[in-house]
Amino acid sequence: MGQNLLEIATHNKDSLVIGVDPFLNGIASLIENCVNNKINNVLVYPKPIQEFLEQFKNIYFEKVFILFPDPWPKKKHQKRRVFKDKFIQILLERIKKNGEIYFATDNQDYYEQALHDLEIVKKTSHISIQKVDSNELVLTKYFQRAKKLGNNVNFLVIVKL
Ligand SMILES: C[S@@+](CC[C@H](N)C(=O)[O-])C[C@H]1O[C@@H](n2cnc3c(N)ncnc32)[C@H](O)[C@@H]1O
Repeated sequence: MGQNLLEIATHNKDSLVIGVDPFLNGIASLIENCVNNKINNVLVYPKPIQEFLEQFKNIYFEKVFILFPDPWPKKKHQKRRVFKDKFIQILLERIKKNGEIYFATDNQDYYEQALHDLEIVKKTSHISIQKVDSNELVLTKYFQRAKKLGNNVNFLVIVKL
């Protein structure tokens, strides 16, 4: 876990980068990486992002990365998806003006649902939605996996205007 986060933290020493994920093995390997590479601008929160947003209401983000968030591709697990209209709305309230949300998935159904939900959000929030070439994306573990499987990766940037 954390390839994208480590890349950002390394190249933006004056920024605070927060990793939020309940997957403890991933959090542990991220911390190990930070220690080994003397990266000291990272905080971690080992719980779901919904809990983070609820707990720290005074934090406003410049960028939020939600990359390959779907570890449960089966249809019966769709209700567990995080990137849905209500969540996007809550996230937007916590993003600075001109701030960005990056969303990537290799699950075509998740991508289509995300686009649908973003259109719902767009009715009440001032946002732009752009498709980005996935070559712009840091090669995370699941991005590598998607490439190996030959899966198409959809990458979006949502800007709060
Ligand atoms: C398929 S992995 C992708 C990991 C990494 N982003 C990558 O690209 O390699 C999905 C990760 O999303 C995390 N996740 C799923 N729902 C989450 C939520 N609500 N809040 C925080 N993390 C979540 C999982 O614990 C898992 O580590």
